[in-house]
Amino acid sequence: MVAVESTSLTYQTADWVAGYESLIQEHDYWIETIEGEIPTQLRGTIFRNGPGRLGVGEQRYGHPFDGDGLIVAIRFEDGRAHFQNRFVRTPEFEAEQKAQKILYRGVFGTQKPGGWLANIFDLTFKNPANTNVVYHGGKLLALWEASLPYRLDPQTLATDGRESFGQALKSGEAFTAHPRRDPKTGDLMAFGVSTGINSTLSLYRINAKGQMIQRRDQPMKGFAFIHDFVWMPGYQVFFQNPVSFNPLPFVLGFQSAGTCLKLDEQGSTQAWIYPDDGEPISLPTEAGFVFHHVNGYVESQDPQILVVDSIVYDHLPPLEPIEDYRQINFEQVPPGRLVRFRLDLSHRHVSQEVLLERSVEFPVIAPTYMGGRHRYIYMGTTDQPGPNAPLQAVVKLDVETGEQQIHSFGSQCFIGEPLFIPQPGATQEDAGWISVMVFDASSKRSFVALLDAQTITAGTVAKLHLNHHVPYGLHGCFTPELFG
Ligand code: CO
Repeated sequence: MVAVESTSLTYQTADWVAGYESLIQEHDYWIETIEGEIPTQLRGTIFRNGPGRLGVGEQRYGHPFDGDGLIVAIRFEDGRAHFQNRFVRTPEFEAEQKAQKILYRGVFGTQKPGGWLANIFDLTFKNPANTNVVYHGGKLLALWEASLPYRLDPQTLATDGRESFGQALKSGEAFTAHPRRDPKTGDLMAFGVSTGINSTLSLYRINAKGQMIQRRDQPMKGFAFIHDFVWMPGYQVFFQNPVSFNPLPFVLGFQSAGTCLKLDEQGSTQAWIYPDDGEPISLPTEAGFVFHHVNGYVESQDPQILVVDSIVYDHLPPLEPIEDYRQINFEQVPPGRLVRFRLDLSHRHVSQEVLLERSVEFPVIAPTYMGGRHRYIYMGTTDQPGPNAPLQAVVKLDVETGEQQIHSFGSQCFIGEPLFIPQPGATQEDAGWISVMVFDASSKRSFVALLDAQTITAGTVAKLHLNHHVPYGLHGCFTPELFG
């Protein structure tokens, strides 16, 4: 039977919610059911991270961002693909697994059961190690921005322990979930924020061997909630959103920390530019909230102009303390808009323009263009241009011509972050594949979709059907090395 494609696809909230079931079982198998063909040139390993356990026993965490990090590894070799998944074995994960109940407060929405009495003065968070996984300098690192990375065995995904880069980071220090790699030197740039009434921003540089070779600690005025940054040769750029934090309900045990955040829509976002040598420069821009940046580069030296592409929200997505995230009404959630900022350092001025009128998230570019002038951006998007909805499609934007290519997976399918895999030896920016994890609510299973990055509208090159679902993930990476 031929499936009928509707031109006005809608989605059911119940279908979307079904992707937020925990995957407790750990698997290790060759994927048998493949539609299409895996290109034989595609060789290497995808690592992904995301909340895989969304509650303990009968109790659910208050927000998926509090869920425990589940690492997925997919190895591509000779037209075949191998799947493996394993939890990051943090002490908190082990303790909750043993107790079969929630023992820790989560940053975003999870209170320990027992009301305010059980939470009062408990200022310790669980490190769920759930946001990203990077392979760098022979180390596979599971990342969560408010604490040290966890080091994993890339072959078995077994947890080795916390990574301090030879004691360069102290216990309890922060390390971003969004480091950026200089494609020329192979150095990994990262940062950590320690925040309060005032903040400290620590800039880290880790060489290709995985050793921390530089650390700069910079004071930053006020509260800072910074998820991502931009690196380009000579500069690092951070957006300090006008977010205030009211710690009182958190300390008193009424609310989780994430629900105590408030965006001042009348305030201004500060763009902080840190030159490699020289004092930081701060430029005010319009208020907005940025989780993710796409990329940035030096557009001209005289006048000195830096370009930064980012996903901007007009308000903070709601994190109400009593709200069940599974009852979310997407039409009331602010859409993420792709915005190009021009930071004119010569005239101390910032301008901005919207590059795409469509709700988008999880932007990626070809990794070899990091810090350079990119032409193509790949993102998750909604099936229709509006109103706001879950991510069901992949969009490729050509920022030079404005051309968009979109592939939607249909009304019962929901996607995570697209990942760009370069074709070996490629010279064109978009020569490669887009891999994306898709949850199909009709079968309650997930598949890995591969698209040709040059022809997104042509649809999938291959669909790799898994024997189970994978809960919605966050970020990941690709390495040409074979693991798992
Ligand atoms: Co992120």
